[in-house]
Amino acid sequence: MRLTCKELSPVPKSTDLVVVLALQGKKPVLPTGVRVATSAFSGFKGEFREAALTDTGKGPSTKVLVLGVGKRDELDPERLRRVGAIAAKRAEEEGAANAALFCPDTVATAVGAARAGRALAEGAVMGSYRYDKFKSDKKPAKLKALTLHGKGREFRAGAKRGEGAAGGNCFARDLQNSPANHMRPRDLLAAARKVAGRSAQIRCKALSEAEMKKLGMGSLLSVSRGSSEPAYLIHLTYEPKRRSKGKIAFVGKGVTFDSGGISIKPSPKMDEMKYDMSGAAAVIGVFHALGDIDVPYEVHGVVAASENMPDASATKPGDVVTAMDGTTIEVLNTDAEGRLVLADALCYTAKKIKPDTILDLATLTGAVVMALGHELTGIFPTSDKLRDDLLAAGAEMGELCWPLPLLDCHKEQVKSKVADLRNINSGQGNGSTAGAAFLAGFVGDIEWCHLDIAGTAWGSVERDWVGGPTGSGVGARLLIEYLETRADGPKGAR
Ligand code: BES
Ligand code: MN
Ligand code: ZN
Repeated sequence: MRLTCKELSPVPKSTDLVVVLALQGKKPVLPTGVRVATSAFSGFKGEFREAALTDTGKGPSTKVLVLGVGKRDELDPERLRRVGAIAAKRAEEEGAANAALFCPDTVATAVGAARAGRALAEGAVMGSYRYDKFKSDKKPAKLKALTLHGKGREFRAGAKRGEGAAGGNCFARDLQNSPANHMRPRDLLAAARKVAGRSAQIRCKALSEAEMKKLGMGSLLSVSRGSSEPAYLIHLTYEPKRRSKGKIAFVGKGVTFDSGGISIKPSPKMDEMKYDMSGAAAVIGVFHALGDIDVPYEVHGVVAASENMPDASATKPGDVVTAMDGTTIEVLNTDAEGRLVLADALCYTAKKIKPDTILDLATLTGAVVMALGHELTGIFPTSDKLRDDLLAAGAEMGELCWPLPLLDCHKEQVKSKVADLRNINSGQGNGSTAGAAFLAGFVGDIEWCHLDIAGTAWGSVERDWVGGPTGSGVGARLLIEYLETRADGPKGAR
């Protein structure tokens, strides 16, 4: 679907479907030239997600859909995102090849024109997402073009950014949804290269296993040992057009299949471990978005791509391995592999890139799903500013975050009797914090936040633009919003 953005008027000469947003308690205001029978929307109240379709039989469009956005003081970007998604989905259902979505100024000004444009564009693009790559009887989408009508330049600029952010989300979802035999470490690398190919500001390089060995990345390599697929450390770089305000690094867990290794997982739901590369998908997704959205930072993306498989050369429970910074690790459970690949990825980031801030994203623990479910990402920020920025970015984008504790007492739990660290805290509970405490050993004193997306990456509740038993693309939009707002002052100033 092609998205374009236009002024509120004039109304297009002909379009298959006109969608008009309407506030609750107000009569729907139809664009000039669009006429329906006076009784058409008599029962329509404008409640959030309420929809009424009428056939005009004449005018620019034969079909007009009014879509409720709810009460003005309850309106927020999430509601507009959902409504944008409903509009695109209804257009598809009605068989429209093209549609025009009208956002009256009363609706746009309730949340701000730029935010309204962005949320509607995001909703329309993400609501149209589908994954049918392996269906023989797949039919192409009927809806080819959607025109978003809103007032002013701000609305249009917002829509452009929304389209870019949503593009990054959909790209991440494709990577997540791909079966593991089609999304191997080498396929993650190909995806990163593809994203770099979209923009002259983005470059991609990769370390092979031999190069990682030279750098001493024994922790990451201990995970790929049991697999016939070679691991890669992928490094994406974005150069801003404007003068850079600083250097930010995103690090992603890219375990393309997590069998557990020798500490093998039970069979039920093991298929879901194809999405153990969701952190990597978010990082590659944000670089896709950076191909369309300019931000004032030098941005680095580091992906630790590996399979976790059991074979004759696989790492065994009790083995001791050495990370790039010389830290020795006792691998007590080969299923706690995410932290092992991230240890070297974080060392590499801290030592070779030396960014101001590191954010790592990983489907790290089942425990975070127990603690927070599928609607909240668990975050472990090392500064109050980083915590506040991520909470605000999450609320704005509908990718909510929740802070979890990481204290010195937790770092004690991952100290080993035979090596420097051990990769599990052995039956002491606080599984997600233990994972974070292990990672903390590899970032030095750089400002850092670990985001555990094991719950939010997959299977969140249905929200029109996202949800259900499929990849959510979580993280890509959150990170773009973080980059766009990090330089702003205290929250509320915007
Ligand atoms: N990839 C899993 C975590 C996970 C679980 C992601 C469920 C998504 C859904 C991770 O590698 C893992 O296996 N973690 C173990 C850690 C344990 C061995 C300390 C876990 O959570 O059970
Ligand atoms: Mn695992
Ligand atoms: Zn894993």
